[in-house]
Amino acid sequence: MEARIIDGKKVSEEILNELQRDIQKLKDEGNPPGLAVVIVGEDPASAAYVNMKEKACARLGIYSEIHRLYATARHAELLDIIEDLNDNPSISGILVQLPLPKGFDQSDVLQSIFPVKDVDAFHPENVGLMLVGTPRFMPCTPYGVQVLLQRSGVDVQGKHVVIVGRSNIVGKPLAAMLMQKAKGANATVTVCHSQSRDLPGICRSADVLVAAIGSPCFIKADMVKEGAVVVDVGINRVDDPAAQKGYRLVGDVDFENVKKVAGAITPVPGGVGPMTIAMLMHNTVRAAKLQVGE
Ligand code: GUN
Repeated sequence: MEARIIDGKKVSEEILNELQRDIQKLKDEGNPPGLAVVIVGEDPASAAYVNMKEKACARLGIYSEIHRLYATARHAELLDIIEDLNDNPSISGILVQLPLPKGFDQSDVLQSIFPVKDVDAFHPENVGLMLVGTPRFMPCTPYGVQVLLQRSGVDVQGKHVVIVGRSNIVGKPLAAMLMQKAKGANATVTVCHSQSRDLPGICRSADVLVAAIGSPCFIKADMVKEGAVVVDVGINRVDDPAAQKGYRLVGDVDFENVKKVAGAITPVPGGVGPMTIAMLMHNTVRAAKLQVGE
């Protein structure tokens, strides 16, 4: 039997609709949420993500502003913008789109964002709070994965979750989140990566397999246990002369073949991607509440 398709678009719509009431309340109280996004350079994928974030804000009536810098901008210019946004009371959340071009010190930039405005949850203070189980914000993509699983009826408690990829944005925080003694967690988590011995074997032992490697169609059908839940975090552009834009988006999972083996699977697009945006909106609303002491 073919895998059930886990519909991230539908779940993300539910979350966005649920946020409407909180946003209205914040506005009525004179504390409207606001998001500032900073993008440096002209990476087309980053530009597309920033565009989606701006659209989501517009749809929910969240104030947003985009700050665009050339890749040749000085590091100090970026820090100055962040400092202004830190001090700007109409901005509840600040996000610096990653990756930054060469010459920027990413760690320094992330640490310059006020932790209470850090809607990406990349500041070491927020990473630490999450790790010890008292999160202020949860990083958008892993949080999106967790909520998507919960709302799709996949309980990870006691299950073996294998995460392929150890990035600071997805792999590491997702592992921290799913191993917590908490609702929607309590999993046994394995993180593997390019240096892991017998990667296919480890993947086959997964009840829930999360692909976050950034390599198109990396996870093949013979790496997946029959009936396993497969979550595809990858968004890769591959050339396709037949496509209108000259490329198409594929995940880290060989979807067409893996869906014949898996019990449930997230598609690309329409899986984790829209969840990331929804959780960013959630975090922006949360930031606005935190700043007025709610
Ligand atoms: N680049 C890829 N994913 C993300 C994300 O979640 N936040 C930011 N700021 N940059 C990213």
